[in-house]
Amino acid sequence: MSVVRKLPEHVINQIKAGEVVERPSSVVKELLENAIDAQAQEIEIELLDGGRQLVRIVDNGSGMSPEDALLALERHATSKILSFEDLHQLSTFGFRGEALPSIAAVSDFTLRTRRSVDATGVEIHVRDGHASAPQACGMAVGSEVIVRDLFCNVPARRKFLRATATELGHTLELVQAMSLAYYRVGLRLTHNGRDVLNLPPAQSLEQRFKALLAGEASEYVAVNYQKGSFLLEGFVQKPEMARPVPRYFITFVNGRLVKDRIVRNGVLSGYTGLTMKGLVPGCVLFVSVDPALVDVNAHPNKTEIRFTDAPLVQDLVTIALQADLRRTTQSQMLSTLPTAETIVRMRPEMRRENWLDDKVTNHQNHTSVVQNYDRSPAPTGGMASAGVSRAAEQSSGQRRSFEPGLSSEKNFSAVAKHVERASGKSANYQQTIFARGQAGAASSNHPLAEATYLGQYKNCYLLFEAKEDLLVVDQHAFHERVLFEELALQIEGERGLARQSLLAPLMVPVPPAIGEVLNEEEATLRHLGFEIELLANRSVALHSLPTQVEFNKAAALFDDVVAKILAIKGFSSSDAHPLVQQARRVGQEWLDVGVRPANLTRKELFHLHLATVACHTAVRSGDPMNPELVRRLLLRGGEVDFFAHCPHGRPVWRRWTDSDVAQWFSRV
Ligand SMILES: Nc1ncnc2c1ncn2[C@@H]1O[C@H](COP(=O)(O)OP(=O)(O)OP(=O)(O)O)[C@@H](O)[C@H]1O
Ligand SMILES: [Mg+2]
Repeated sequence: MSVVRKLPEHVINQIKAGEVVERPSSVVKELLENAIDAQAQEIEIELLDGGRQLVRIVDNGSGMSPEDALLALERHATSKILSFEDLHQLSTFGFRGEALPSIAAVSDFTLRTRRSVDATGVEIHVRDGHASAPQACGMAVGSEVIVRDLFCNVPARRKFLRATATELGHTLELVQAMSLAYYRVGLRLTHNGRDVLNLPPAQSLEQRFKALLAGEASEYVAVNYQKGSFLLEGFVQKPEMARPVPRYFITFVNGRLVKDRIVRNGVLSGYTGLTMKGLVPGCVLFVSVDPALVDVNAHPNKTEIRFTDAPLVQDLVTIALQADLRRTTQSQMLSTLPTAETIVRMRPEMRRENWLDDKVTNHQNHTSVVQNYDRSPAPTGGMASAGVSRAAEQSSGQRRSFEPGLSSEKNFSAVAKHVERASGKSANYQQTIFARGQAGAASSNHPLAEATYLGQYKNCYLLFEAKEDLLVVDQHAFHERVLFEELALQIEGERGLARQSLLAPLMVPVPPAIGEVLNEEEATLRHLGFEIELLANRSVALHSLPTQVEFNKAAALFDDVVAKILAIKGFSSSDAHPLVQQARRVGQEWLDVGVRPANLTRKELFHLHLATVACHTAVRSGDPMNPELVRRLLLRGGEVDFFAHCPHGRPVWRRWTDSDVAQWFSRV
C-alpha cells in the first residue's frame, strides 16, 4: 500500500492558515481588505477579548450570490484575477483566493452575505473544515463575517497569542493605517462593547488624518512629490518631533499597506541631517510607482513587496522628502527667525561704536600660518608654526578666536561693504539690506523686522525678541549648518573643497597600520582639502587644509575625518593608537543607531565628511560673539538654502511665545 497520500482539503487549509492567519489582527486585515475590495462605504469591526473570542466584520459592499458564497470558501476561489499576468495590474487587495478558507479552517466561522438584487441573504457556517448547507437569512445588503474562537482547533497557535491589550493594539494599528488609505470609508472599531475608533467617511486624506491624529496632527507636515510615474504624498513628522519609536510609521505602496525596508530606508535618509541619531520620524506615506515595477506576491501575507529597481525607489523617496522637508522646515524657521536686519535695532550698549574695539573682534593678533592660494591679498603673518607637531600645536594654548569660516575677508567682502555703509546710519543700512533681497526673508514688511537681538547667553546661545516671542539660536549648530551648505556647494565641482596650501607641512602622527588606507583614500582626502604625504616616521605631512579650517584645529579635524574613513572601511586592528580607538568608537556609534556605512551612497559619504569639516570649523559653544558677528552669521544663513537643523540633525533654534514664558512664572 502506498505510504504517500494526498492530504485532505481541510488539513491543507489548516496548514495554509498558518501563513495567512497569525493572530486576530491578520483576520481583521483579510476581512477588511475583502470589504474594501467589495466597494463597501461603511465597515464595522467588533472584537471580543482582543479578537480571541470574536472578530466580526459587517460591510455594506456588493455582497455575494449564494453560489459565490459557497465557492468563496474553497481554496483558490477568487473573483479578482483570471491569469498570473493580472497580478501585474492588480487593483484589488485579494488575489490568492485563500483568506476565507484559511480563516474558516482555524475557527468557528460564519459568512452571511446578500447582493442588492437578492431578496434575502445567505448564511453558511463552517466548523472543523465542514461547511453547512447555505440557508436563507434576513439581512441588509453587504456581508458579515463572524469568526469565533480563533485557533480553537490549533491549540499550539492559540498559546502564542499575547495579552488582550497587545492583540487589540495590533488590530488598532492596522485599522488606523487602513483608515488613512480609504478615508472615504466610514470605519468603526469596538472592543468588548466599547468604541475604540469611530471615523465617519471623510472627503480628503487630510480630513481623515486630522480626525485620526487629533492634536498630534500639528506635528506633521504634508509632502507631495511627483517625478514621472513616481508619486509620493502624505504626511511626515517635523524633524524635531522624531522619537526613538514613532507612534505612526505607516507606508503604502500602490495603495497596499507594507512594511518595506526600501521605503523605510528612503525615509530615514530623507531625514539625514534633520534628526538626531537614533530618532525616527513618524510618517504616513503613499508611494505610487508603475505597478509593473512591483512584485506584490513576495510574501504570503502580502505585507512585503519587491521592487524591480529598489535603489531607484529608495533614492526617489529620499529626494522627495528632502525637497519638501527642507522647504517646510526652512520656511517655518524663516517666519520666526530674526534676520540680519534685527541687529539694527540693537540696545544702545550693543551699538557698533561700543564694540568695535572689543578685543574679541580684534583679528590683528590672528597670525596666519598658511599661504592661501585661493585668497587675495596675500596672507599676513609668517611661518611661526612651520612643521609644527601635534604636541607643539596643542601646547600653543587654547586661543579664543573666531573661525575663519565666519570672519574671513573672502566670505565677507560683500557683507563688509554693507557694514561700512550701515555704520551709524540705520535707515540707510536697512534699505541696503532689503535691496539685496537675499538675506533670508528680509523685507520691509517682514514680521521680524521688529525683532531685536538681545545678546548672547553662556557664550553659546543667541537670544532674540521676535514680535512677542523669545527665540534662542544655538550658535554652533547654526554656523555648522551654514558652513555645511556652503561646503556642499563647493564639493560638487571637480576640484572639491577649496584648499589653503601650507608653506611648511603640518605633521600629524598616525599608526603605521593605516598607511595603506590613507594611500587608497588619498583622493578622498584631497577632495576634502587635505593634500597628504605619508612619511616613514609614523606620521603624515599635510601640505594643504580646507580653506575654512584654522591651523590649530586642523590636526583634530584630520583625525576625525580619518577615523570616519577607517570606520567606513570597516578597518579593524588591535593597535592602541588613539586614532584607531577613535575609529572603533565611531563604528560602534553607527552600529548602535543602525547606520551601515556600506549602504551609504558616495554622496552620503561626502556629506558625512562635510558635516565633520563643518563641525570642526564652526564657531564653538563658549566662543563670545559680538553683534557684528551675529549679524554676519545671520546674513550667511539667509544666503544658503537651508539652516533649520545642524548637519547632525539637532535643531538650530527654539522659540517660546510670550504666553509660554508667562507660564514659567504662573502669570497665566
Ligand atoms: N466582504 C465581501 N464582500 C463581497 N465579496 C467577498 C467578500 N469577501 C470575500 N468575497 C469574495 O470571496 C472571494 C474569496 O475571498 P478571499 O479573501 O478568500 O480571496 P481573495 O480576496 O480573492 O484573495 P486573497 O486570498 O488574496 O484575499 C473574493 O474573491 C470575493 O469575490
Ligand atoms: Mg481576500
